[in-house]
Amino acid sequence: MSSPIIVFGSINMDLVVYSDKQPTKGETILGNSFETFQGGKGANQAVAVAKLGLPVSLIGKVGNDVFGDELLENLNRETVDTSMIVKHEGPSGVAFIYVFEQTSENHIIVISGSNKEVKSNQISDKELSTSDVLISQLEVPPSEIEDLFIRAKNSGTYRMLNAAPALEISKNLIRETDLLVMNESELENLSERSIDNENIDSIAEAIKVLNLKTTQSIAVTLGSKGVYVYTNQKGDFIDGHKIEAVDTTGSGDCFIGALATHYLKSNDLLDSVNFANKAAALSVTKRGASASMPTLEEVVNFL
Ligand code: RIB
Repeated sequence: MSSPIIVFGSINMDLVVYSDKQPTKGETILGNSFETFQGGKGANQAVAVAKLGLPVSLIGKVGNDVFGDELLENLNRETVDTSMIVKHEGPSGVAFIYVFEQTSENHIIVISGSNKEVKSNQISDKELSTSDVLISQLEVPPSEIEDLFIRAKNSGTYRMLNAAPALEISKNLIRETDLLVMNESELENLSERSIDNENIDSIAEAIKVLNLKTTQSIAVTLGSKGVYVYTNQKGDFIDGHKIEAVDTTGSGDCFIGALATHYLKSNDLLDSVNFANKAAALSVTKRGASASMPTLEEVVNFL
């Protein structure tokens, strides 16, 4: 039996280099430290839910290498249900992450490995029908996400798509989604409109291009500035929290996991975005992706 929240997504080993600044073209610099962390947008989102205290199942694939075993062990330790994760005969996904400590910005390059082999048939219709919320992102094949979202509609499952990283996706996948979540550059990519994040109208204009149905909602995350939410044909802006960032890797994933968790309890999107906004702010105060997800107590006591 699966959990009320299911994540269909990627699992990566994050290989993270911390340096003061970004090297210029052709420059070699000495970094400050190197660490490995549990990552992958899917895994991070599942860990965010588990840390906030709800049961969550992750559907994905790891490789038959040393990273695969470590990733599975870590997910089990975080109490994520891993029974629908399959071992693939090949390498695990890895992400090369460079964090520049003076600005806390990062650069990420993902090598998909086993994530490219994730299939929607790793979950049966029966198991799917017991879930309330299904989350996915674009580090696993979009055609498999589309297939799963179509099946999930039949069981009335709420389907959340984090359109990250910025890739081309079919119009049908967008139509099969109840809530789209993305940042401004991902919205620019999907709408083919440029956005000025100081100008809410430019965000609203880009959303219009997506031609969403009246039942669909969208949340556009604008980093520390806040979040623009469009739901029930009405736009709202929720301010971000000013916080000293150490490492922003995975903060978008924290936002998604927290949003799903709160939405399951409250069925109120704006309230859930407020909650997720706090959780994401807390996540940037710690290093790593999955490792930076806050507990329910930390979010409730924040501010
Ligand atoms: O969103 C952050 C994640 O993106 C990292 O954990 C990395 O693995 C990439 O998938």
